[in-house]
Order: sequence, then C-alpha cells, then structure tokens
Amino acid sequence: MNGAIFFASKYGSTEQYANWISEATGLPVFNVKDANADPSKYDFLVLGCPIIYYKLLNRKWIKRNLANIENKPVILFTVSGAPGGSKLDAWIGDSLPKYLISQMKHVALLGRQKPAELTWFDRMMLIIAAMKNKDPQARKEELHGFDYMDKSSIEPIVKMVKQFQLSGVIA
Ligand SMILES: Cc1cc2nc3c(=O)[nH]c(=O)nc-3n(C[C@H](O)[C@H](O)[C@H](O)COP(=O)(O)O)c2cc1C
Repeated sequence: MNGAIFFASKYGSTEQYANWISEATGLPVFNVKDANADPSKYDFLVLGCPIIYYKLLNRKWIKRNLANIENKPVILFTVSGAPGGSKLDAWIGDSLPKYLISQMKHVALLGRQKPAELTWFDRMMLIIAAMKNKDPQARKEELHGFDYMDKSSIEPIVKMVKQFQLSGVIA
C-alpha cells in the first residue's frame, strides 16, 4: 500500500506541515500546483488544505481529481486560524461534497498569518473582515496575525498513516 501527501499553501504553513508529515512517515509530498501531482498512482492519500476566505484553498483541485480520490482512504488535514469545531466543519462542508467528507478522517491544525507577508489585497480583506467580526480573538488575529505552528500537532496524522501502512485500514 503506497500513499502520498498532496497540499496547497498560499503562505507556506501548510507546506511546512506537509513536509513535517513527509519526514515523519516517508511519504512523498506534492504541491497540487505541480504537473506531476497525480493522486491516481497512490492507494491512500493525505490532503493538506489551508482555509482561505472560509473555504479550502485546493477544493477545485480535489473536485477535478475526485475520481482518483473517492473510494480511497483519505486523511484530510486543514490549516486555519480558527480551531476545530462547528465553524471549521461548516467551511469544509461548503468546499467539498458531503459523501466525500464522510469518507475522510479530518485533523484540524492551526497555522500562521504574518501581516507583513500578505498581498495588499489579502491585507485589506482581513482588515475589513476584522471590522465586521464580533469575536474579539478572531478580530485581533485578523488584524495582527498569529503563529500557532506546532510540529507535535501532526502526531495523530503520523499515527494514522503508520497504522494504514501496517494494516491497510485507517482506524
Ligand atoms: C487571506 C487570508 C484569509 C484567511 N481566511 C481564513 C478563514 O476564513 N478562516 C480561518 O480560520 N483562517 C483563515 N486564514 C488563516 C489561514 O488559514 C492561516 O494563515 C493558514 O496558516 C494559511 O495557510 P498557508 O500558510 O499554507 O497559506 C486566512 C488567512 C489569509 C491570509
């Protein structure tokens, strides 16, 4: 059983997590922008998806490659400012077909956002979002950024991959 990691990343944090998971498991890692990112070659997949504007950044790539993703064991890891919970679940629900979500194991990881690195457009959009946001913590993060990168948070993913490599089943 061979598997691979496919990720998208706008500012590098999802790529960092994908590389950490690759180092810990030995799985090959592909940016979905690369022409050789072909999920059809693998028996199980780890999909790394940042949340940008309330959606999975690589939802279109996932939909384009649906035939080579559905019916395979998939671990979906999201990277976001918001923690796991109903808000994050709703954004995933808006990005992917329900039947696909129900087949995946989801792990929510926290990312990083540095205002100085953002494009002008993203910076403006986050300032506008902050002005409208009623949640004081989310507002602060939108305005001033955050860094919740934590290598140890990949452990549940590494465990599932190793289980799968041994038994062919993700428990
Ligand atoms: C333009 C922009 C929009 C974002 N939108 C959301 C969002 O809707 N919900 C959320 O929880 N985090 C949001 N974030 C935070 C990102 O999910 C977080 O910065 C993540 O680490 C980005 O991943 P990347 O570095 O791989 O691009 C946003 C960040 C940016 C820069």
